[in-house]
Amino acid sequence: MTSTLALLGGSPVRTTRFPVWPIFDETDEARVLASLRSGQWGRLAGDQVAEFERRFAEMHGCLYGIAMVNGTVSLRIALMAAGLEAEDEVIVPTYTFLSTATAVVEANCVPVFVDVDLDTFNMDPTLVEAAITPRTKAIIPVHFAGQPADMDAILAIAGRHGLFVLEDAAHAHGAIWRDRPAGSIGQVGSFSFQSSKNLTSGEGGILVTNDEALAESCRSIHNCGRVPGGVWYEHHVISGNYRLGELQGALLNSQLDRLEAQTITRDANGRYLAARLAAIPGLHPQVRPEFCTRHSQHLFMLRLDAATFGATRATVLEALQAEGIPCSAGYGYPLPDQPLFRNRAFGPYLAHARHSLDYTQVQCPNSRLICSEQGIWLDQSMMLGTQADMVDIAMAFEKVHAHRHALAARNRDALAP
Ligand SMILES: Cc1ncc(COP(=O)(O)O)c(C=O)c1O
Repeated sequence: MTSTLALLGGSPVRTTRFPVWPIFDETDEARVLASLRSGQWGRLAGDQVAEFERRFAEMHGCLYGIAMVNGTVSLRIALMAAGLEAEDEVIVPTYTFLSTATAVVEANCVPVFVDVDLDTFNMDPTLVEAAITPRTKAIIPVHFAGQPADMDAILAIAGRHGLFVLEDAAHAHGAIWRDRPAGSIGQVGSFSFQSSKNLTSGEGGILVTNDEALAESCRSIHNCGRVPGGVWYEHHVISGNYRLGELQGALLNSQLDRLEAQTITRDANGRYLAARLAAIPGLHPQVRPEFCTRHSQHLFMLRLDAATFGATRATVLEALQAEGIPCSAGYGYPLPDQPLFRNRAFGPYLAHARHSLDYTQVQCPNSRLICSEQGIWLDQSMMLGTQADMVDIAMAFEKVHAHRHALAARNRDALAP
């Protein structure tokens, strides 16, 4: 701990790489090659996507799974299938990836933003009821970073107001809320298989549900509006081709074989690292509520309180990176502060509602604090490392904290005329 910071010329804590993502071997190659050689590359001809849908739905205790091209389209299709009408309102958190809110706009509905809790980084349920109006029809809790949202509170609110609950589980493959898999708790759950995700085929997404009518509607919308038993060129609803391809289905089938073991590792590493980092003054790892039975650690997130820690986030990130710890500040803005929402750049959507929308007025002090000053992200593949890897991460944070005065002096020198 006494050695000089790497940023100031010392030796880094870490010189070897953390696990890299994606992970694959000859089992993936064999499965994709078999699909390639079958010549059945489209979902309608092959059996790989169908097999994956069955397995993924089953893993969630769901009867239906509908795989799609990505986890943005899946959110939009779920809203369309739920029967939302033009310019209905949908509650979404302020701290999430763009798609949670733009899928709402692309369903021609109005995203209504609710701030997140500073401890959990998930939507603060105590703020939800104040955001509900007679036009509110749905709520999209995000299990951010892989930690289940407060579904007890969200389901209670949804029940009182008759809201449709669409879980955005894009970060939460394998996460468990109480005894139920994330994504299986509301009416429908949406997942992404984009490259960075804990289960990936490069791109892809899926909806899981136990609601037969909803599943049928999602399946129809993702398949050009076709209906079971209908003739080929008969289309019943506004829709398109959002089917996932067979090569991606084959890859997902082999990747899924690893997910359980990987999630157990990520969860155990996350618990260990959170305990170590919580002991450092000014660091606040994502707080794990008792209902979080398993965290999928798509990200390991924490907040840094610069005044208590003794160095700013930018300085700490720079010092950690020099110590060999990949890390970032995450999102630069809460969603309502994005130019897209500030300027209501909605293209052909929300033609009427946009005139009365003013996203500059959204109150989200917690999300703004996380984005502008406090949030730190470590990526999911680091969490697949050994406990010794977690020790390195913790030691790097401890070292940076121990040398905070040297960092402050360096910054003062840099500012001196
Ligand atoms: C929370 C969240 N929701 C939705 C998505 C959209 O998924 P995709 O990139 O597959 O469209 C993402 C990610 O990329 C995400 O992080």
